[in-house]
Amino acid sequence: MDWDAVQAYVEALVPQRTGELAAMEAEGRRSGFPIIGPATGHFCYLIARMTGARSVFEMGSGYGYSTAWFARAVRENGGGVVHHVVWDEELSRQARAHLDALGYSDIVQFTVGEAVEALEKSEGGFDLIFNDIDKQAYPRSFDVITRKLRPGGTLIVDNMLWHGAVYDDSDNTPATQAIRELSRRIFSDPEWQATIVPIRDGLLLASRLGSAASKPAADGV
Ligand SMILES: C[S@@+](CC[C@H](N)C(=O)[O-])C[C@H]1O[C@@H](n2cnc3c(N)ncnc32)[C@H](O)[C@@H]1O
Repeated sequence: MDWDAVQAYVEALVPQRTGELAAMEAEGRRSGFPIIGPATGHFCYLIARMTGARSVFEMGSGYGYSTAWFARAVRENGGGVVHHVVWDEELSRQARAHLDALGYSDIVQFTVGEAVEALEKSEGGFDLIFNDIDKQAYPRSFDVITRKLRPGGTLIVDNMLWHGAVYDDSDNTPATQAIRELSRRIFSDPEWQATIVPIRDGLLLASRLGSAASKPAADGV
């Protein structure tokens, strides 16, 4: 099967975006800024809707494209908060303008700073955490996420296939090793159930079960 054709097919099925969201996608294409794109954005929206998430903490938010999908879900779930966190002041400013134009200023809270530190400082108890920060920080972020996600909460992490580098034994760059380490840790932790959804660059979708006792054996008994 042709990987690029599969991705193009899945992306073409995402409902048409218009107005500000379409403009944000065009900006990503023009500038080359690595937004998650429509198929991943729509997937995040769908998971947030299906789980009824009303408090979302986003790590590595850029100019607000992924934030917009979560804000839409939270609004439709009855309202709540989406934390936009990025360490770049100018990106945070751009995000405020975009999310304001989309009508989400009442839902989104903005923090300029390092995302793992910001999560550590937060009160926690989040329904959903989305992680898209620098890949070398993925292992370090995991302990904080485990403490700040509520039991039964959802974790989504982008770039878990890392363009195929994760299963290329000759690739041992720090970013690749960090992604592999997060995978190893979460898939072997009895407190979590996880899978990787091969949309675009691979999304980790995981649920923090809360206690080892609540994880069923592999045969389901
Ligand atoms: C890959 S971009 C993704 C943007 C966003 N998730 C989207 O799809 O629209 C990641 C952004 O997070 C920022 N970033 C990376 N590591 C970070 C960290 N540890 N703390 C805060 N921001 C970070 C990057 O500078 C960049 O702006």
